[in-house]
Amino acid sequence: MVLCFSSFIFLTFTLFILSLLPRIRSGSIPCIGATYSDESSADDTHIPPEHIVTAIDSLKLGSLRLEDSDPNIIRRFAYSNTSLFLTIPNYVVPEIAANRSNALRWLYVHVVPFYPRAKITTISVGNDFIDVSPQAVDHLLPAMRNVHLSLRDLGIRKISISTSFSFVSIISTPFPPSAAQFQDPSGIDLMGPLLQFLRETNSSFLINVYPYNLYRLKSEIPIGIALFQEHAFNFRDDLTTGVRYRNLFDMMIDAVVSAMAVAGYENIPIIVTETGWPSASVTRTEGDANMAYAEMYLKGLVRHLKSGEGTPLRKEGVAEVYVYELFDKETKEGTKPPGRNWGILYPNLTQKYNIDFSGSSKIGGAKAWMKMATGISLVLVLSL
Ligand SMILES: *[C@@H]1O[C@H](CO)[C@@H](O)[C@H](O)[C@H]1NC(C)=O
Ligand SMILES: *[C@@H]1O[C@H](CO)[C@@H](O)[C@H](O)[C@H]1NC(C)=O
Ligand SMILES: *[C@@H]1O[C@H](CO)[C@@H](O)[C@H](O)[C@H]1NC(C)=O
Ligand SMILES: *[C@@H]1O[C@H](CO)[C@@H](O)[C@H](O)[C@H]1NC(C)=O
Repeated sequence: MVLCFSSFIFLTFTLFILSLLPRIRSGSIPCIGATYSDESSADDTHIPPEHIVTAIDSLKLGSLRLEDSDPNIIRRFAYSNTSLFLTIPNYVVPEIAANRSNALRWLYVHVVPFYPRAKITTISVGNDFIDVSPQAVDHLLPAMRNVHLSLRDLGIRKISISTSFSFVSIISTPFPPSAAQFQDPSGIDLMGPLLQFLRETNSSFLINVYPYNLYRLKSEIPIGIALFQEHAFNFRDDLTTGVRYRNLFDMMIDAVVSAMAVAGYENIPIIVTETGWPSASVTRTEGDANMAYAEMYLKGLVRHLKSGEGTPLRKEGVAEVYVYELFDKETKEGTKPPGRNWGILYPNLTQKYNIDFSGSSKIGGAKAWMKMATGISLVLVLSL
């Protein structure tokens, strides 16, 4: 109990110190990219790979996240300056966990033929795997290890391995952010060993952050905070850290920062693997899924990221952000429920909004600040 109390004091103190760090422009603006996913059924029209290259170039996005890691798309990005983020589909994860040669086989199809001409920076082993395959959670970390070791076998050291989580399923009590903790999937000690793996391999924590979903879950959240609209009364205070939040995105990122601090891993970089706001929904009750709000969210997000201010608890902010998603899905009437539209572009490549994504820095800033933060935590540890 005494131990527990003193570690609580320590944690509060750490978060407090984090919030006191000078509010300087860190100068490192996260790399902004978009996600492309191809949930195609035979009826859908495929977007040709060359159109994806055109779209990324015309939007001036720095990176592309592929949910299906289609080799025909990866090939198109050889000799381009676009960073690629690949995903190993969830259904492949158990096979890769079972046998390292399956990991090697995946890499021989999706990485070896293209790297380093195509700038592959990160591979996510699964996406939201613990929600999609809760019965197979114990395969996740072994699969990540196998992919990491296989890359080493191939002599590739610059591609980092991680896995992405959905915010609402991994973070318990997101408000106030300083109270957030990771919740392990039932009966499995996942997060501790996983964070240890990320630290040992210099990898990032990947998280899908949808203020839209949290806003829909919690009726007390004003829409303005979710949409980056700054008004005098649009704020939430975190009394533990004394921090005032003016947007929900920062609150969610700082909840992750706090949860990592509670677990004892405060300096792992964060990549937002998905974020966005739907511009349409077939569900009548989703009136907030509209073009005007989607535009406000994306413009507010880009403005906020380009300000280089980071979040109150993490001045250098997140390392990369991927907007979900590049294109609206083109589904023919009657083939499957169209659901929600998330695209930055219509399937015919026309822009839906007028947003300037240019100027986000290349992947790989933020390292200097990390050293400083490590130094500060060391001082804290020594002073206790
Ligand atoms: C990539 O970036 C380099 C350096 O900024 C530049 O010289 C080159 O033209 C760029 N290549 C492409 C394909 O945009
Ligand atoms: C892994 O797969 C390879 C090739 O399919 C096979 O030769 C090997 O026996 C497998 N190893 C295990 C431990 O199952
Ligand atoms: C992680 O980064 C540090 C500092 O940049 C470096 O010394 C270390 O070798 C890296 N570790 C791995 C496993 O890449
Ligand atoms: C592209 O599609 C959108 C939505 O269907 C439409 O409004 C727009 O006119 C189209 N643009 C072109 C150039 O066809």
